[in-house]
Amino acid sequence: MSNGSPDAIGEPPVTDELTPPERTLMGPGPSDVHPRVLRAMSTPLVGHLDPFFIEIMDEVQELLRYTFGTENRWTLPISGTGSASMEAAIGNLVEPGDTMLVPTNGYFGGRMASMARRAGGEVVTVDAPWGEPLEPAAVEAALAEHDPDLFGFVHAETSTGVRQPAVEELTAAAADYDTLVIADCVTSLGGVELRVDDWNIDVAYSGPQKCLSCPPGASPLTLSDRAMEKVLSRETDSRSWYLDLSLLEGYWGEDRSYHHTAPVSNVYALREALRLVAEEGIETRWDRHERMAGALKAGVEAMGLEMNAAEEYWLPSLNAVRVPDGIDDGAVCGRLLEEYDLEVAGGLGDLAGDIFRIGCMGHSARPKNVIYTVTAVGDVLESMGAAVDPGAGVTATRNALEG
Ligand SMILES: Cc1ncc(COP(=O)(O)O)c(C=O)c1O
Repeated sequence: MSNGSPDAIGEPPVTDELTPPERTLMGPGPSDVHPRVLRAMSTPLVGHLDPFFIEIMDEVQELLRYTFGTENRWTLPISGTGSASMEAAIGNLVEPGDTMLVPTNGYFGGRMASMARRAGGEVVTVDAPWGEPLEPAAVEAALAEHDPDLFGFVHAETSTGVRQPAVEELTAAAADYDTLVIADCVTSLGGVELRVDDWNIDVAYSGPQKCLSCPPGASPLTLSDRAMEKVLSRETDSRSWYLDLSLLEGYWGEDRSYHHTAPVSNVYALREALRLVAEEGIETRWDRHERMAGALKAGVEAMGLEMNAAEEYWLPSLNAVRVPDGIDDGAVCGRLLEEYDLEVAGGLGDLAGDIFRIGCMGHSARPKNVIYTVTAVGDVLESMGAAVDPGAGVTATRNALEG
């Protein structure tokens, strides 16, 4: 301990008031946030155990059930981003020594594997190339070979723009081996057809910042009774205290007792985002995503670009477009941001440098954004010497939007 007067801490840093740029968010997420959601976030804070907030919690759970297409009692937002709901699912379901079957056809299947390993599980894989979905026969063969406790798949692979079709075939195969199914629905919930109960998905997790168009911070998760039984009968505690569903059950279940301080403003935002889903109607919302992304796709194809995923498993919420020869994807994204305030992204992992990832999610899935994106992408690519016809792209998008 010093015996004189303590050293001065120094001058406080001087920073400007926050004035973020007004971007158009057409990347892999976050998407543009609806003004109603932003307004909900700035309403007065209450305590996380306030009777008013307890009602909000009930409403959010009910709205989440509707959006997921489930009657699951265990349906809640997890505090944190999509990776938190993902880790809540995997970290609670995988017990040390369990085997989990995961896909290798994209970046987020790889993240599933890392989480399962950290939870003490043994990971086995079902393979498909990046940019292709899983084949039901390959899943069936992997189930027969490994007889895993859990099977995880990515419904909407944000790294490749692939929508996993034939989900019911995959879950039916898993049922034959008594294997619980965990679905990553981060980029599908609220934008792409998803029927958790009808498709017999045991656990589905998501994030709010994609097709729900809500700032990140409270991430949807739903578990069937059967899945929750496995969680509640674990022999060892899950490794994360924060994400332990048997403890979180005290707060989001009947008791409503303190576990951690819920991110109140994020829960408000999620409630408003889900109200928008309910007002629009979930099926109408799926159709809107398909129409808007269809117009985007018509535009990029008409200007001479190629989609990475085949039509049968094209993912409307994330359009993977092949980068033309000789063009640097990073330079294109940089110029779009600088000149158009438009966010789109390049590829990840096996597809780094090969694709652009153009999102069409939630509030971003509207005519204004789509026509703007096609115009801007065409302009920047043409100015960089790519063989594209921006005019043909804009015309095709306009025709698709009017059709
Ligand atoms: C398919 C998928 N899973 C998981 C995540 C992780 O979500 P977050 O980045 O919100 O933690 C993402 C994020 O992009 C995703 O696209």
